[in-house]
Amino acid sequence: MSGLSITAVPVPQPGDEGTERAADLRACRAIRDAHHLDLWGNLDRGSTLREDQEYWRGSEYEERLQFLARLDGAQAGTCSVVLPLKENTAAAWIEVLVAAPYRRQGIGRRLLAVAEETARGSGRRVFEGYCEEPVLPLGEHGSQRDNGELPAKSGSGGVPLNLASTRFALASGYELEQVERSSRLPLPVDPALLDRLEADAIAHAGGYRVVGWQSRCPDTLVDAYAVLKGRMSADVPTAGLVAEFEEWDAPRVRDEEQSWERGGVSSLVAAVQHSGTGELAAYTVLSYRPERPNTLIQEDTLVAGPHRGHRLGMLAKIANIRRAQEVCPAAGSVITWNASENGHMLAINISLGFKPAGFEGEWQKRLE
Ligand SMILES: CC(C)(COP(=O)(O)OP(=O)(O)OC[C@H]1O[C@@H](n2cnc3c(N)ncnc32)[C@H](O)[C@@H]1OP(=O)(O)O)[C@@H](O)C(=O)NCCC(=O)NCCS
Repeated sequence: MSGLSITAVPVPQPGDEGTERAADLRACRAIRDAHHLDLWGNLDRGSTLREDQEYWRGSEYEERLQFLARLDGAQAGTCSVVLPLKENTAAAWIEVLVAAPYRRQGIGRRLLAVAEETARGSGRRVFEGYCEEPVLPLGEHGSQRDNGELPAKSGSGGVPLNLASTRFALASGYELEQVERSSRLPLPVDPALLDRLEADAIAHAGGYRVVGWQSRCPDTLVDAYAVLKGRMSADVPTAGLVAEFEEWDAPRVRDEEQSWERGGVSSLVAAVQHSGTGELAAYTVLSYRPERPNTLIQEDTLVAGPHRGHRLGMLAKIANIRRAQEVCPAAGSVITWNASENGHMLAINISLGFKPAGFEGEWQKRLE
């Protein structure tokens, strides 16, 4: 296609915010923001420029690359490749986004080819990408479900066949491994509901206490917290996606905390400790960005295997929601993502009042 250029976005350096060096980084952000506004009518799911400035520098755990497509000089699309460096080293996580006015001209195909070549050049053999779409009432936008649904290989959930993302992924040789549900909880939660759910959880959770922190785990708990973070990588349902056990230790926890802080992201963590042994049995994390005061993002929630069945997930979540309502009074909602086969987590979220907001196809292509 004449007039099309696809170039690597310079890796952001501290201090180059607002400068010419960061112009392509800002262009990619602008393309993503326009897409979020188009799909959701808000930027609740989008990262901020400050986060991008930190995230796209990469870390010792992930190399992260972005590319910008220009058509006759105009910003037309972006793609990215994330290369895990410690575990999952056969995999590359790929994203392709074409700005709405430039679709159906072959730019998506060209961007994907650049992303896949980059991944292959780093020895990756499994490409994975995800795509989130809002749940629409039947009949809207010509009814998403008119043309049927493609079931996920996981056996749970599916995506409408007539979406551009579905067509594009299938045309590019990807298979639908898994479907996640995104859900939204309006805040504040009815205090009577929280009291009732908490009383029920406490009745099942004898011998445990809730501890919490903001943004930085206390030194006395950080090793135990790292153990739970490792379990999180192995315990969530991931269907046929590449998901090797991640070795977490205190330096990895601190690296993540510091990276979030540099990116302007704060977190609230509620953890459940076994009173007898002091062992950490469960944790849940909410993140928030002062630049997006309306929204909290639900990050990890995990109850360690031996401690399941005591309503510890519910106990931790209630403590964190109460805390978030004090610390972030402007927040009007929490957004969360769960594998559609993750019945236990979904049941907790539904009883707290989360409602389905969207679905996310998790796509995979394995090279021979
Ligand atoms: C999906 C997306 C990247 C496609 O980009 P694009 O530049 O329009 O795609 P291309 O023109 O390169 O199309 C490549 C092939 O994908 C399929 N395809 C893409 N969009 C389609 C649509 N709206 N309807 C039917 N098929 C479509 C076709 O098979 C097409 O080949 P063809 O034109 O020879 O028939 C773009 O719609 C987009 O950015 N959507 C939002 C983000 C997203 O969904 N990303 C993909 C994540 S899986």
